[in-house]
Amino acid sequence: MKVAIIGTGYVGLTTGVSLAFLGHDVTCLDVDESKISALNSGLIPIYEPHLDELMKLARHRLKFTTQASDALGAAQVVFIAVGTPSLPDGKSNLSYLKSAAQSVGQFMAAPHVVIVNKSTVPIGSGNWVESLVRDEYREKNIRKSSEFSVASNPEFLREGSALSDMLYADRVVVGADHAASIQVLRDLYQPLLEQTFDAPSFLPRPENFKAVHFLSTDLQSAELIKYAANAFLALKVSFINEVAELSEKVGADIVSIARGIGLDARIGNRFLQAGLGWGGSCFGKDTLALISTGQEYGLNMPITQAAREVNFRQRRRLVEILAGELKILKGKRIGLLGLAFKPNTDDLRDSPALEIARMLLDRGAQVVAFDPIAMKRAQKEWSDVDLRYADRAEDVFVEADAVVHVTEWPEFRTLPYEALKSVMRVPLVVDGRVGLDRDRLVSAGLKVIVLGKSS
Ligand SMILES: NC(=O)c1ccc[n+]([C@@H]2O[C@H](COP(=O)([O-])OP(=O)(O)OC[C@H]3O[C@@H](n4cnc5c(N)ncnc54)[C@H](O)[C@@H]3O)[C@@H](O)[C@H]2O)c1
Repeated sequence: MKVAIIGTGYVGLTTGVSLAFLGHDVTCLDVDESKISALNSGLIPIYEPHLDELMKLARHRLKFTTQASDALGAAQVVFIAVGTPSLPDGKSNLSYLKSAAQSVGQFMAAPHVVIVNKSTVPIGSGNWVESLVRDEYREKNIRKSSEFSVASNPEFLREGSALSDMLYADRVVVGADHAASIQVLRDLYQPLLEQTFDAPSFLPRPENFKAVHFLSTDLQSAELIKYAANAFLALKVSFINEVAELSEKVGADIVSIARGIGLDARIGNRFLQAGLGWGGSCFGKDTLALISTGQEYGLNMPITQAAREVNFRQRRRLVEILAGELKILKGKRIGLLGLAFKPNTDDLRDSPALEIARMLLDRGAQVVAFDPIAMKRAQKEWSDVDLRYADRAEDVFVEADAVVHVTEWPEFRTLPYEALKSVMRVPLVVDGRVGLDRDRLVSAGLKVIVLGKSS
């Protein structure tokens, strides 16, 4: 099929490259000229493992453009994958969605077009997009006979493992009010649903993975599934963090507790990792948007609200732990291991590292950070923050009064802690991700504080 993707960010690019790999002709459209010219030169503007390799395999079926008419003129399916960030009042900023919908209305020309909201959009946005497209289409294309419908196909990928999440998804959810649109998307995803494609060597198919579940619903249920899924995952993490705080006080071990809970098949062991909590572009904004939608209907959502409060408390708690240990933060040098909101991505949106750095800087500390991938982006996106950047992870330990493990990049586990202890001013490490080998660090002579474990 001929597919257009509007927005070549983490979601749009992953979707476009994957659909081209599955055999569709895909044109990716973005308003950001620098992204499109990078992509046209074979460069990937984001860090996502294996995306460059998959793009090479699918290159002959992929185009990148800033011209809406080039992307939309022949498309039978148009995915909208633009950002929907939070506004100050918690609602989603729908200006990008609006302008994408208007472009579709202006330029679509195939006999029947299915417009798919892949962006996470507030409930009712499907109908809104339909009205925007219709208004624009009537105005600009009065004599053409194109028909269209709008569907919702929320995305559940995780940055860092986006391609496996896409090719070997737990489920594909499609919401639409017309059976024909659901059928078009079922056909589009058919190689993925039935797993008939040859798995790339660098993304092998998981053992015994035979098919992907396809769930079709009405439009608003699909839209709400996305928010409910993210809110549920967010509250799972916040729940374990709440228990972790109690665990510290009673002298228990949160890792054993998470294992003990997670082995219960009704609960499951994923998203029960205690630590600094979630960040990233989705959980914060989607929980906020869910609460805001509830408010529109006069409904309080205290569970989702509590998940947010516990999450953001973790960041403040970490700074209090440092203050408790060092007594005075003014003039102290604190090293941060990691800046990205999680490993295997360069995404810095709502990263705990930024808020922690800001709180420390506000209290007069110096902050030195290292991240294996996200540092260049941080220097650009956080240019207003007085952070110092280290060339190597080891350098954040030099003259440090404490080092905080903020992002669980695997290489931080194997640093030469024995040698690093001697370059620190105060041999203190705070493991904000419960991911370092505490016994090893302690034998190296370091004092180690692990969130969720009593010291
Ligand atoms: N990032 C994730 O892990 C993830 C996962 C699931 C769902 N989502 C949702 O997917 C959507 C996109 O997220 P993202 O992280 O890919 O965002 P992003 O900011 O990385 O990418 C959005 C892209 O859209 C482009 N854009 C904006 N307006 C445009 C327009 N009118 N025409 C063409 N291009 C336009 C921007 O230039 C940008 O490149 C959001 O709604 C998000 O909530 C994200």
